Amino acid sequence: MSTRDLHLNDSADSISSAVEFVNQALSRAGLAKPSVGVILGSGLGCAADRLINAGGISADYVDIPGMPQPHVTGHHGTLVCGRVKDQSVVMLKGRVHWYEGRVLDDILFGVRLLAGLGIRKLLVTNAAGGINPKFSPGDLMVISSHLRPLLYTVPGRSSFANAFEMQDSRGLWCNVLRTAALQTKTPLRIHEGTYAMMPGPCYETPAEIRMLQKIGADAVGMSTVPEAVEAVSLGMSVLGVSCITNCAAGLTDQTLSHSEVTATASAISEPFSEWIWNVVCGMKP
Ligand code: HPA
Repeated sequence: MSTRDLHLNDSADSISSAVEFVNQALSRAGLAKPSVGVILGSGLGCAADRLINAGGISADYVDIPGMPQPHVTGHHGTLVCGRVKDQSVVMLKGRVHWYEGRVLDDILFGVRLLAGLGIRKLLVTNAAGGINPKFSPGDLMVISSHLRPLLYTVPGRSSFANAFEMQDSRGLWCNVLRTAALQTKTPLRIHEGTYAMMPGPCYETPAEIRMLQKIGADAVGMSTVPEAVEAVSLGMSVLGVSCITNCAAGLTDQTLSHSEVTATASAISEPFSEWIWNVVCGMKP
């Protein structure tokens, strides 16, 4: 993010303070300017734990000036910096959501912080319900496109001038990063498909899932799209990955719950963090 983008309002001021805070932490830890950012969704924070175990440093969001706090279980609110092989990486373990009643500036704070640090490659992850009948809980889906049905406001609309510009969404999910991710070995089953962002906070009705099936969604979740739109508008290349944590509403007899989502995410934490690690290794500046 250039200073041109950072002088527009209070939110921009607090992002500058957060950027300064993280830059100081990076320099104290002897870490180079980061080149890759990772946002970790519900129950998927294991990759950040691995970064800490590899000698990384962390800061709770509460200690970072202006950083909004997530309130959902499984979203820790910890920023972790460290090295993945020879790359300096910043991971955000936990995010705030639309359904928490947050304004767009809060939802986008993390991605703006990463852009302010000079990061130009972003991996954004989420937990999602599988709609495609070929998908099972524990599978991964690399996002190739997205749908925004039933959202009551427009992801990407924000108080920053550049995000008001109309963008062509075709190139949103970077082809090069997608291809590399799909070729990165994992024991997990890995698919490619369309992510539908729904407003939440409750899970979809079976009727909504039938609608999403008809309009071409492969997986459904409640996040990621606003962050990806903003990241691209700030000059980043974006890779999106869904961890399929459950079959979407009505596709099985099971009642959906957040604990099922976090239990599936936790069951694949080892191979998932290994795969994230290897994907990040391939995200050269
Ligand atoms: N729907 C919406 N969001 C989700 C789901 C789901 O089935 N699973 C995990 N996040």
